[in-house]
Amino acid sequence: MSSHFLQSVILLALFFNIVGETAAIEEVGNNQVAASVHVTNGLPEKSEAMKIECSFKGKRLGIHDVGVGEEYSWSVEEKALYFCEAIWGRQMGSWHAFQPRRDANHATVFWLVKQNGFFLSWDNSTWIRRSTWESE
Ligand SMILES: *[C@@H]1O[C@H](CO)[C@@H](O)[C@H](O)[C@H]1NC(C)=O
Repeated sequence: MSSHFLQSVILLALFFNIVGETAAIEEVGNNQVAASVHVTNGLPEKSEAMKIECSFKGKRLGIHDVGVGEEYSWSVEEKALYFCEAIWGRQMGSWHAFQPRRDANHATVFWLVKQNGFFLSWDNSTWIRRSTWESE
């Protein structure tokens, strides 16, 4: 993958990040919550690691490499929309990792990332697809 291509992908990701956040502003106040979000890489064995970056209120949580079978998790500290983006090979995906109205009553929000999309669960066993990968 050329670094030029990677740059374009990152610029595109930044652009969609801004658009996505503007479209999804939620007025939920500033209450504290104590929840955790777990993102597990359930992509096919031996495939390359995916890169994930999440943000809330414009704060970036940093880019993380998550290999097959690995998990990335963090604590949600504010009732805010947490938006994540992933890059896997030439595919990109984005999803709302924590949405106050949807998730505030759950202590843990699980995401399973597979080849056919991004699946949400609150019990780590029943999964609903909420997003899909997009090719360039
Ligand atoms: C979710 O389930 C998987 C598979 O059973 C297990 O490996 C993992 O530890 C569980 N995660 C949590 C946070 O309980």
